[in-house]
Amino acid sequence: MAQDTQQAELSRHILELKRKHGAVILVHLYQRPEIQDLGDFVGDSLGLSRQAAASDAGVIVFCGVHFMAESAAILSPDKIVLLPELRAGCPMADMVTAEDLIAKKRELPGVPVVCYVNSSAAVKAESDICCTSRNAVQVVDSVPGDTVLFVPDRNLANYIGTKTNKKVIAWDGFCATHDNITAAEVLRARREHPDALVMVHPECRPEVVALADHVLSTSGMLRLARGSAAREFIVGTEQGILHQLTRQNPEKVFHLPNSKKQYCPNMKKTTLPKLAWALERLEPRITVPEPVRVRAATALERMLAISGKRAGND
Ligand code: 13P
Ligand code: SF4
Repeated sequence: MAQDTQQAELSRHILELKRKHGAVILVHLYQRPEIQDLGDFVGDSLGLSRQAAASDAGVIVFCGVHFMAESAAILSPDKIVLLPELRAGCPMADMVTAEDLIAKKRELPGVPVVCYVNSSAAVKAESDICCTSRNAVQVVDSVPGDTVLFVPDRNLANYIGTKTNKKVIAWDGFCATHDNITAAEVLRARREHPDALVMVHPECRPEVVALADHVLSTSGMLRLARGSAAREFIVGTEQGILHQLTRQNPEKVFHLPNSKKQYCPNMKKTTLPKLAWALERLEPRITVPEPVRVRAATALERMLAISGKRAGND
């Protein structure tokens, strides 16, 4: 109870600071419930990029991981972009560096590079276009030629390869949170909940994706759960999404194939005290050197032009 009161006081303090600075709080669906509850917008990577591009707030507080705040800074260079916990990185994004990508491009002259938004600004700057899990197939289909190099997620690359006529050359990166979900765990969950629909994120392994009824981005999962007549779902992504799934569908039941593994430690690094600290000091700020920013912005803007700039989750 004392902890609840403390959380409520801290949340009120954060909202006062937000108003004082004219800030907007953007929150990814894997964040802690108490952080999601403070978001002006809670969504997937595409929705958050759109919000960052469209927002007229002077301060954007990004509750997510580093590449997400960096994308906001790339798209809105005149705004203050805060990442409450600077060490909240994405290990998969770190699996490709700009130097390695430049070397690979030399081996594959003329092959367009599509980079998952889970990548650094420097990698985006070396890429032709970005994508998120929601628009990846649409983006790959939009680039010229019959082959693309896709970085850094091998599982998403594999999934796109099953949905496009193009050859998708995959970088060997992966997200441990998703890659650790096994087919055996999904099959067991199906046996235990035979009426449940299985929805998984395309960062899961091919054999897990093959078992799914639906392969969706995080916001796609929310849309499916709201619109479907099904009452039970098996959810193959990070457990933070259960906060919105259960809030939006109190009468439905959501199961995780392995709740211990379906946890992104980096997403959980943002806490109420850190968010308050960031808004009190307007630090830590995320900035991108201008020559890199300009090139990375081209890759992100191309994606937004293809999949729609409209702010929101649809
Ligand atoms: P979404 O774009 O589906 O939100 O995914 C982001 C992410 O980091 C998945 O691990
Ligand atoms: Fe990165 Fe995976 Fe965490 Fe998403 S869930 S931020 S891909 S480590």
